[in-house]
Amino acid sequence: MNACLRAVVRTATYNKLEVVGIFRGYEGMIQGDFVKLDSHSVSNIIQRGGTMLKSARSEEFRTVEGRIKAAEQLKKNNIDGVVAIGGDGTFTGASIFSAEHNIPIIGVPGTIDNDLYGTDYTIGYDTAINTVVDAVDKIRDTADAHDRLFFVEVMGRDAGFIALRSGIGVGAEAILIPETETYLEELIDKLQRGWERKKSSSIIIVAEGDESGGAYEISKKVKERFTQYETKVTVLGHVQRGGSPSAADRVLASQLGKFAVDALMDGKQKTMVGIVNRKVAYTPFEKAIKHHQKINTELLKLAEVLSL
Ligand code: F6P
Repeated sequence: MNACLRAVVRTATYNKLEVVGIFRGYEGMIQGDFVKLDSHSVSNIIQRGGTMLKSARSEEFRTVEGRIKAAEQLKKNNIDGVVAIGGDGTFTGASIFSAEHNIPIIGVPGTIDNDLYGTDYTIGYDTAINTVVDAVDKIRDTADAHDRLFFVEVMGRDAGFIALRSGIGVGAEAILIPETETYLEELIDKLQRGWERKKSSSIIIVAEGDESGGAYEISKKVKERFTQYETKVTVLGHVQRGGSPSAADRVLASQLGKFAVDALMDGKQKTMVGIVNRKVAYTPFEKAIKHHQKINTELLKLAEVLSL
């Protein structure tokens, strides 16, 4: 998000526009928690995780009165266009607010889950999967040395994108995601076949939102039936949401930040900018909120073929 913020500020400055940063999202907008930003204010942040503007959930912004206060703050500060980085919640708020107060808002997709419609990749996703790959490579060393079966739970409350891509990246023996049914029998058969082939260890990547109930739940069920390996569980949790962004994320965030300012200057509003097939794509908020990115069936097949 910092890389995106930097791109927004620098693109606007390049085009002789003034930029104000809003701290803590919509909550800060209501409270007028603003700071003037120039090119120098965003120096040395491209490599930092998180966001220098911080983030918050705002209950007040869900109310008509809250949104009136937010609009008044924008008017008072001569703000006539907003770039909002986030996901479904951010765009739902933006869509309502923009319609009520006729303030142009451009959305930038920022979530590690990569489940937003209208862009191939969201900001944070690549960094998150690299974190998972790095962690699981380390876990694999122990798994291998001790003949263990590891269940590694990754983020993705409603989506399996992190699990699927990182699972392929680490050569996981199985990947369990909410978008596909998890069959215990099949999983056990697969482990059994691996055991017979003298596989010394196995790694199973489990998306937290998988209907099996997550890594602890599924590991318990497998353990009861398959005792050949010692079984361990690791939940990676919020390490996936921080850290220095990958090169791919920095470039994506920079491109999207520039596209967002370009879109505002072109008079676009209530729209999310994304990149689809290497080209800038505009998706109205209503559509971005309503649809979700579909899981890539070719990647699913690839995972199946490679984890025989
Ligand atoms: O950004 C979405 C997400 O990464 C989900 O996959 C995950 O369940 C959630 O955030 C966790 O966020 P928190 O626990 O900080 O609310």
